[in-house]
Amino acid sequence: MYKVVLIPGDGIGPEVAEATRKIIGATGVEIDWLVVEAGAAVLHKTGELIPRSVFDAIEAHRVVLKGPITTPIGGGFKSINVLLRQQYELYANMRPVISYPEIGKYSEVDLVIFRENTEDLYAGQEVRVSDDEVHGIKVITRQASENIVRAAFEYSKQKKRQKVCAVHKANIMKMADGLFLEASRSVAADYPDIEYSEVIVDNMCMQLVMYPEKFDVIVTENLYGDILSDLAAGLVGGLGLIPSANIGKDCAIFEAVHGSAPDIAGKGTANPIALTLSAAMMLDYLGETTAASRVRTAVYQVLKAGIDLTPDLGGKGTTKKLTEVVIDAL
Ligand code: NAI
Ligand code: MG
Repeated sequence: MYKVVLIPGDGIGPEVAEATRKIIGATGVEIDWLVVEAGAAVLHKTGELIPRSVFDAIEAHRVVLKGPITTPIGGGFKSINVLLRQQYELYANMRPVISYPEIGKYSEVDLVIFRENTEDLYAGQEVRVSDDEVHGIKVITRQASENIVRAAFEYSKQKKRQKVCAVHKANIMKMADGLFLEASRSVAADYPDIEYSEVIVDNMCMQLVMYPEKFDVIVTENLYGDILSDLAAGLVGGLGLIPSANIGKDCAIFEAVHGSAPDIAGKGTANPIALTLSAAMMLDYLGETTAASRVRTAVYQVLKAGIDLTPDLGGKGTTKKLTEVVIDAL
């Protein structure tokens, strides 16, 4: 029996979290879910976005499945996602993007984005210089850069992937992105069997749209990784399909790439697959690799059959119905 902290989150979070729990339950892997609330859901009640009980639960169990959380814009709130990633040093954010039959605009995408998760412009160092001027400080360290690049290469070595591409803008941010590249090159030198390349981020956007099948593993800073992963999601059918893992030394948080989708919250039509595939990554992390593969295969079969898909995938299905067909496929 594994103990896993479950944060259902805001908006569509509780809907996709319930669906995911059912699907993971159907694999037979026994999980004791410790449900704790965070986000807008508790802000009204407690005045805090993350009550102490959430930190306590994470510290006790170290494995978390998390729904999306709405970050109020302005008002002095720091994003919970950013805070958790920094607090638990979840330095590697891993986002696999693959195409499924008959879904999305491309058929041969199979790439993994490794996004640095603790620094860059997300370090939250914004200084108001005057009423009319704000400086947002970009923090890049050699250590964090090496950590994420090493994570990308180690993964590639393990999974027998051929190529790692570092994405940057060192032509403009010569010092910050220059340091990221310096760190990338020094780590790449330890992996002579894996092809290493570098692409500037704006060019990368164009290349990903024109020939996404060319790319294998992409490693990049926090902001570029955030943007590129939504772009990559758009190539293969959208945010409803893309999972992620935030991994540190002794703690991991699994969550979908998407947000709380306020436009469809409460309608019962949210796509649960992104969170379900995040839970499959969690099963891998726990060592339940067979169950993880079974979940991925079931999702693949359901998408291939194209029955009861949710509206984001062009279908007329509901969260409930799609959950049922995935469980049947299992
Ligand atoms: P979003 O990802 O919530 O939504 C973007 C678009 O994709 C919307 O049209 C939405 O309906 C659709 N979409 C997203 N997930 C879907 C799913 N599972 N099924 C079907 N359609 C789906 O991004 P948005 O609107 O920019 O952000 C909303 C809120 O979410 C913001 O407060 C933001 O801060 C937060 N957010 C939280 C994240 C997290 O907790 N990890 C990540 C991204 C955003
Ligand atoms: Mg994002």
